[in-house]
Amino acid sequence: MKQTFYITTPIYYPSAKLHIGHAYCSVAADTMARYKRLRGYDVYFLTGTDEHGQKIERKAKEQGMTPQQYVDGIVAGILELWELMEITNDDFIRTTEPRHQRVVQQIFRRLYEQGDIYKGQYEGWYCTPCESFWTQSQLHDGNCPDCGRPVERAHEDAYFMRLSQYADWLLDYYNRHPDFIQPESRKNEMIQNFIKPGLEDLCVSRTSFTWGIPVDFDPGHVVYVWVDALSNYISALGYLSDDDSLFQKYWPADIHLVGKEIVRFHTIVWPIMLHALGLAQPKQVYGHGWLALGGARIAKSTGNVVDPVVLVRRYGLDAIRYFLLREMPMGADGDFSNPALLSRINADLANDLGNLLSRTVAMIEKYFDGSLPACGALQQVDDDIRNLAGQTVQQYATLMDSMQFSVALQHVWKLIGELNRYIDLNAPWALAKDESQKERLGTVLYHLAEGLRIVSVLLTPVLCHTPKAIWTQLGVDEGELTGWESLGTFGRLPAGTRVRKGDNLFPRIDIEKELEELKSVLPAPQQPREGGPLKPEIDYEQFSQLDLRLAKVTACEKVPKADKLLKLTLDVGALGSRTVVSGIAAHYTAQQMVGKTVVLVANLKPAKLRGIVSEGMILAATDSAGQLKLVGIDGELADGAGVN
Ligand code: MSP
Repeated sequence: MKQTFYITTPIYYPSAKLHIGHAYCSVAADTMARYKRLRGYDVYFLTGTDEHGQKIERKAKEQGMTPQQYVDGIVAGILELWELMEITNDDFIRTTEPRHQRVVQQIFRRLYEQGDIYKGQYEGWYCTPCESFWTQSQLHDGNCPDCGRPVERAHEDAYFMRLSQYADWLLDYYNRHPDFIQPESRKNEMIQNFIKPGLEDLCVSRTSFTWGIPVDFDPGHVVYVWVDALSNYISALGYLSDDDSLFQKYWPADIHLVGKEIVRFHTIVWPIMLHALGLAQPKQVYGHGWLALGGARIAKSTGNVVDPVVLVRRYGLDAIRYFLLREMPMGADGDFSNPALLSRINADLANDLGNLLSRTVAMIEKYFDGSLPACGALQQVDDDIRNLAGQTVQQYATLMDSMQFSVALQHVWKLIGELNRYIDLNAPWALAKDESQKERLGTVLYHLAEGLRIVSVLLTPVLCHTPKAIWTQLGVDEGELTGWESLGTFGRLPAGTRVRKGDNLFPRIDIEKELEELKSVLPAPQQPREGGPLKPEIDYEQFSQLDLRLAKVTACEKVPKADKLLKLTLDVGALGSRTVVSGIAAHYTAQQMVGKTVVLVANLKPAKLRGIVSEGMILAATDSAGQLKLVGIDGELADGAGVN
């Protein structure tokens, strides 16, 4: 029976656009999956999307959609991207699928019933208008980071996972499994920054929004997104379902490949969840670095094309996959820039590899009518090439096993470089002039073709099209001669194989011209859209529920210790006097406000701001530059007059 190999990427947030940094993570996992298949493993490769949470709920609302409609649209784009990048995942799990939700609910219930999850009180800073809890460190100048309004200390019922009681077990587990967290430095970070200072119990439910998996035994609570998301690695395999054969076959995972910022969840929360459930631990969590744009982690475009779709369409999939894996030393951070990408394409792919193939095939056509000559007596230079090829295969295997893709590729390119040097050393064009050197010429060309065959097989996990293009030109059929076992002996390519010159593998790029052209491909800088996107349509009935009234400011003062707030006393005619707290202190002084006629939302539910009950809200317009002007009336009318 084949040995199994289960590898996962993180499940991606459906953010509006995945960039080349996200693509890196999937390409790396895909390369590993392809490599293990090449080595004869029964591979299961999982990826997917992490679709719940307050952010998604908000974004959907901004766009006038249901959260499900919103994520469906984005996930369709992610699926297309992985297809374009030829990611060979065996399954794609979405956390909104019933097969996942059911499992998360059962896990939550099980952990609750056995006491690993308990009900307690979550305490934090609460922003009433946004209905959000914030931690001290999330606040901006002590105010809500979303709306800038004051927050207050509040608590709500919530469920907690007992991480604290597993801290010693976790440390001991790390010690007994030195390869569990890779690279080593990430393990030290976890111990020093999170475990040694003391693990706190984790709040694992929320009640302030609904876009999540409901806790089925306590309506109103939804499961914390990370508990939901991490469970994908087993829900996708059918854990706790009617058919758990995949789970039985593939769990524990061999590798969870994740970005460095989420190693924490995968090496603290996830192992504790699994341990509490009585399940085996993944064999390894590998924390890769970030692909940066001139030092800053890629977030949005700043002068380089970072849209993987544009890059693949322009330079071909293989060039992009090669660049990502060659340029990022696994585990460390790498830098993305258009010039670096273009020079790698020219130097490594077009020159080193492309020229080696075209020269080799051209010479076999020219000197041997396209029929691969037999190998004759060997000289030292030939042995050197054979030895290097053998060593390269071995080093490559060791490096690929530990996911050192960049170094593995460096070794392959060393062999390519030596094959190019071998051409110069042996000067086949000179040998061709001397009929007595025909056998020697044949031996040289044979070594080049066979060297290229070995290179092409080693490239199959990384490049999707190039190896096949090489085989077509070398006359190699896919099968025995393109499998891993064929790399064991130098000389498998049969003499007499018909070669056929084809197109250049990678056309050379005029870098200066290309960089100039790329400028027009870059997305135009985003103009701030005044007012933001249009809110969902409402009917007159809904509009008429707003009770707007004219009100005169009769008194006004600053709210102590709140830079942005003024407390207004308003005369609203028949409604009498009202107190309203308004965030306009940066734009109007208290003195300027007295005597002004403003528009009041009179039937807004009162809210407490800095201990003052605010009975409504006054209207103001703001622009994208942050300017604010009060909404007033054209002339004079009685206080309390209705506005509609
Ligand atoms: N949804 C969580 C993961 C849950 S897994 C149970 C998440 N999603 S994410 O979309 O923000 O990130 C997915 C992966 O992409 C992460 O591993 C992250 O590190 C990786 N990358 C995002 N930007 C990246 C770069 N600029 N460079 C390299 N990897 C990047 O986190």
